[in-house]
Amino acid sequence: MTMPAANPASQPAILVARAIPPQVLARLQQYFQVQDNQDDVQWSATELAQQLQGKQGLLATGSERIDAALLAACPQLRMVANMAVGFNNFDVPAMTAAGVLGSNAPDVLTQTTADFGFALLMATARRITEGEHYLRRGQWQRWRYDMLVGAEVHGSTLGIIGMGRIGQAIARRAAHGFGMRVLYHNRSRLPAEVEEQCAAHYTSKVDLLRQADHVMLVLPYTAENHHCIAAPELALMQPTATLVNIARGGIVDDAALAQALRQGQIAAAGLDVFEGEPQVHPDLLALSNVVLTPHIASATMPTRIAMAQLAADNLHAVLVAGQEPLTPVNQADPVARARRWAG
Ligand code: DGY
Repeated sequence: MTMPAANPASQPAILVARAIPPQVLARLQQYFQVQDNQDDVQWSATELAQQLQGKQGLLATGSERIDAALLAACPQLRMVANMAVGFNNFDVPAMTAAGVLGSNAPDVLTQTTADFGFALLMATARRITEGEHYLRRGQWQRWRYDMLVGAEVHGSTLGIIGMGRIGQAIARRAAHGFGMRVLYHNRSRLPAEVEEQCAAHYTSKVDLLRQADHVMLVLPYTAENHHCIAAPELALMQPTATLVNIARGGIVDDAALAQALRQGQIAAAGLDVFEGEPQVHPDLLALSNVVLTPHIASATMPTRIAMAQLAADNLHAVLVAGQEPLTPVNQADPVARARRWAG
């Protein structure tokens, strides 16, 4: 964003659905009539539609559902910029059919999220939170050779399911930093030079689950990926294996995972995302061999500012500069788009 609009009255109106970093809000206010929600009130779908009346743009987070009903209720809405790389809160076909553009926030969170994936893997395999709880409860009386022994990380085999930007960044950390053997499974195989940079070997999902000491999930949530790790997949894993999910809730069947952890079918899990979050399956809460974090993989302030800024830049590109989104997730139907934009 470089040039403020000349006449504030002609500035497009936008809604910012949740609290965002104030410096990004201040920049948005130079170009748009902004209705913000810095109090971070959580709106129902009906309330969101009410707040969106008369707005051409929406800065959303992963929490706002953008579906056909909302689009029909908000005929002036032209563009929704998600402050998240994942956009499973968008009904993309409905947006496309309604002539509404969508964008997400890739790249700016890749390294931060990969760092967190590795942190969660380490915490899970080396039982770090379990150790801390043990200590805080006053159970640590003396040293023992087998006290809280965990799984090796260096030199072990990491299986990554979902080999986009974040998966590749995790693979590089694993192969080059920890000397791990990296297997991956993805919708499509990566070009040979990318596989080489990541020192990663393409395998079937079944072989990956059978061979990996640690399995890391980094794939987007789609209808096809719903419960892509459920009882049959968990049964393929080694009893010493760990499972880390930094992707999305719903990719793992949380009830089946809790059962596998309880029965020792796998050793441990590290979870940053959950089915129906912020609710967490009660059976997971009851287990000690699972590390639970509240969807914070991208949570550093520089990264959160960059995510909000990219969403703001997408709104600016479309609604102020008259360009296409910088990081689009769809190409709106041209007839519906022309009709909506004329209205
Ligand atoms: C993302 O960007 O998709 C993160 O999960 C935050 O929602």
